[in-house]
Amino acid sequence: MTTGMNDDTRDTLMAAARKAAAGAYAPYSNFHVGAALLLADGTVVTGANVENASYGLSLCAETVAIAGILAKGDRPQLQALAVTGGAPGAAGQGPQVTPCGRCRQIINEIAQLGGTDPVVWCDGAEGVLETRLSELLPYAFGPANLG
Ligand code: THU
Repeated sequence: MTTGMNDDTRDTLMAAARKAAAGAYAPYSNFHVGAALLLADGTVVTGANVENASYGLSLCAETVAIAGILAKGDRPQLQALAVTGGAPGAAGQGPQVTPCGRCRQIINEIAQLGGTDPVVWCDGAEGVLETRLSELLPYAFGPANLG
């Protein structure tokens, strides 16, 4: 699909996501995920997955990044995000990593707050999948639905 974002932006953001994946705390799955979010003012915010000995409490990379933004009080326009993952040191070298269902909902919260439909780039050995949040989460429920 055509999103109007250029390849340099995609490559820069994916590089930031891969770097962030190196910071993952994922001793249980050994699957290191990195996410990089591009905000309208050009700021890039990254996150990595943080697992827990109580496995179900693990936090995804996208969630960590978005929680950091919102917890600072910032309500930015989210233009794009890049997600990568894989074995330690091998992010992006396997199947494409798309945001999990819970993360799609969490991305939707910040997207609706800022009034955007962010581009989502998903890293993988076959190439980077380019999509949009509205394709990943159609008919999303968000703040606007609360009336
Ligand atoms: N994970 C993410 O960080 N983001 C996603 O969108 C998919 C899954 C993490 C959760 C867990 O720590 C590991 O990847 C394996 O599922």
